[in-house]
Amino acid sequence: MARFTLTNPLRPILLAAGRRAWVERLVTRLPLTRSLVTRFVPGTDQVAVVETVRRLLAEGRMISVDYLGEGITTAAEAQHTVEAYLALLSEFSTLSVEPLDAAGGRRLEVSIKLSALGQSLPGGGEALALEHALTICREAEAVGCWVNVDAEDHTTTDSTLRIVRKLRKEFPDVATVLQAYLHRTEQDCRELSGPRSRIRLCKGAYSEPAEVAFQTPAEVDASYLRCLEVLIQGEGYPMVASHDPAMIDGAQRLADRAGRPADRFEFQMLYGIRDAEQARLVDAGFRLRTYVPFGDDWFGYFMRRLAERPANLVFFLRSLVGRP
Ligand code: FDA
Repeated sequence: MARFTLTNPLRPILLAAGRRAWVERLVTRLPLTRSLVTRFVPGTDQVAVVETVRRLLAEGRMISVDYLGEGITTAAEAQHTVEAYLALLSEFSTLSVEPLDAAGGRRLEVSIKLSALGQSLPGGGEALALEHALTICREAEAVGCWVNVDAEDHTTTDSTLRIVRKLRKEFPDVATVLQAYLHRTEQDCRELSGPRSRIRLCKGAYSEPAEVAFQTPAEVDASYLRCLEVLIQGEGYPMVASHDPAMIDGAQRLADRAGRPADRFEFQMLYGIRDAEQARLVDAGFRLRTYVPFGDDWFGYFMRRLAERPANLVFFLRSLVGRP
């Protein structure tokens, strides 16, 4: 099977379809879709996700849970997102999870998307998202959980990094995501690799124009390794979010060369993707965090996973015509 590349014409089409309300209505109503979605999203409700978190923790993994939802259009929806996180964090407080290390490392993390907290709402969206993010950070701190701010499309990057800088004044361990496909990211890595900084480096999942982003897989991979080198040589805590064997090997090579021990960086992968590799990394003594999404609003996340790999799309289409 050919690798799905950034230059593959289906990728932008699928990502654009992921933003169309009529495609969402169609896809989410298909009875078969739901069974496919569970490969990437272990459940829509909190009970299901907490069950999954317990299981993964028992397997020696660390966790980052994302309440699905993005690009909300009303302040009430943003408030709903906050409440979902607060309820989840309250449940986390009952899990009695051991600290990761003496330096204050945490096994539990929540990942938040600022667009789900109102960032794009007209008339003060950025301030609202900051206020909501602070509320989540305070509760997370109280239950010993880290917070990560996810990266969305490039039009939000400046605003997201502004908010993250403000959050870090009160909560220095708040992490964020940088996307290697953006031209700006190598410089962002230089600026954000200081002490206590936690940066998740990923390739990037959105459809971005050539003015701001590398377009070929070879360029994105090369950028990823350059950015990773900056982070690994920096003073912060790099988080290597990729399923790509070349990036995983590259991280180990760069860490060895920089004399960075295995407890001073971590690998991260998405729930349901390369699960055997996730288990292998844990067995080999590396830190591995699984990103676990949950909630009803899984459509955009699901479409990005389809766009990343043709095999997923073929499987989905075959299921629709009764040939799974
Ligand atoms: P690549 O796409 O080259 O895939 C390498 C190999 O991994 C494939 O050959 C296949 O074996 C496997 N694989 C990858 N995707 C798969 C899929 N969907 N289904 C099955 N197999 C698959 N992006 C973003 O823009 N903002 C964000 O905040 C985040 N957050 C984030 C957190 C974590 C923990 C991860 C792992 C990823 C993200 N991403 C993200 C997504 C990221 O940008 C990227 O789209 C995917 O990780 C796929 O890129 P890879 O680095 O895995 O490489």
